[in-house]
Amino acid sequence: MSVPLVPHHIAIVMDGNGRWAKKRFLPRIAGHKQGVDSLKRCVKACDARGVRVLTVFAFSSENWQRPVDEVSGIMDLFAIALAREVPQLNRDGVQLRFIGERKGLSARVLKSIEQAEASTASNHQLVLNVCFNYGGRWDIVQAAAKLNAMGLPITEEDINQNLALSHVPDPDLVIRTGGELRISNFLLWQSAYAEFEFTETLWPDFDEAALDAAIAVYAGRERRFGKTSDQVKPVNSVASLT
Ligand code: FPP
Repeated sequence: MSVPLVPHHIAIVMDGNGRWAKKRFLPRIAGHKQGVDSLKRCVKACDARGVRVLTVFAFSSENWQRPVDEVSGIMDLFAIALAREVPQLNRDGVQLRFIGERKGLSARVLKSIEQAEASTASNHQLVLNVCFNYGGRWDIVQAAAKLNAMGLPITEEDINQNLALSHVPDPDLVIRTGGELRISNFLLWQSAYAEFEFTETLWPDFDEAALDAAIAVYAGRERRFGKTSDQVKPVNSVASLT
């Protein structure tokens, strides 16, 4: 099986905004603002390289436990950034999807999410899934609850179809910036066969060169999906000719 050199779907844990700000003696929210700019750059760079789905972890179910002023700062930033960026996303053909629990979000944030989704729904150049008030366990539980209500035996495919990311294929590459080596409740089900790339680079510093480096590492991986190395070698490789 030959694997395309550029991942179709990249998912990113955008970590390190707070440390980026702290290094510059700035408030943490300044790091999150820079994080939005980094995300805009990343969307353009992914599109230019042929990535068709980008999924980012913007706010986890657990992030509510942060200081109140940081949470409200992120909520404000989110609503403001959405209103500001939607026209450009439309020009670039980016379809925005918000993945996560909507219960608990303020009316203002909900409205900005709904408007952004409606306004970009017919774009098909790149799908940008923003995981907001999201947790991988929440996603599996909500899918199981929907299926349980139907009272039928549950298959893997049923779960696939009821998860919040059922509109896109599973991620090929999961990147975590900021140096931590954990998945933090992100895409627990969908990342079963993803390749992982952990980088020390803080999210606001994650630029085109960092994306290219991650894609280059991905291109060098052998994806076996449970098979042996011989089974997945490309048919025209030197090994198969000998
Ligand atoms: C993790 O860094 C980052 C977040 C919890 C928030 C990320 C949010 C954005 C980039 C804004 C997204 C906005 C839109 C419009 C999609 P951290 O705060 O955990 O950094 P640290 O580990 O250095 O403290």
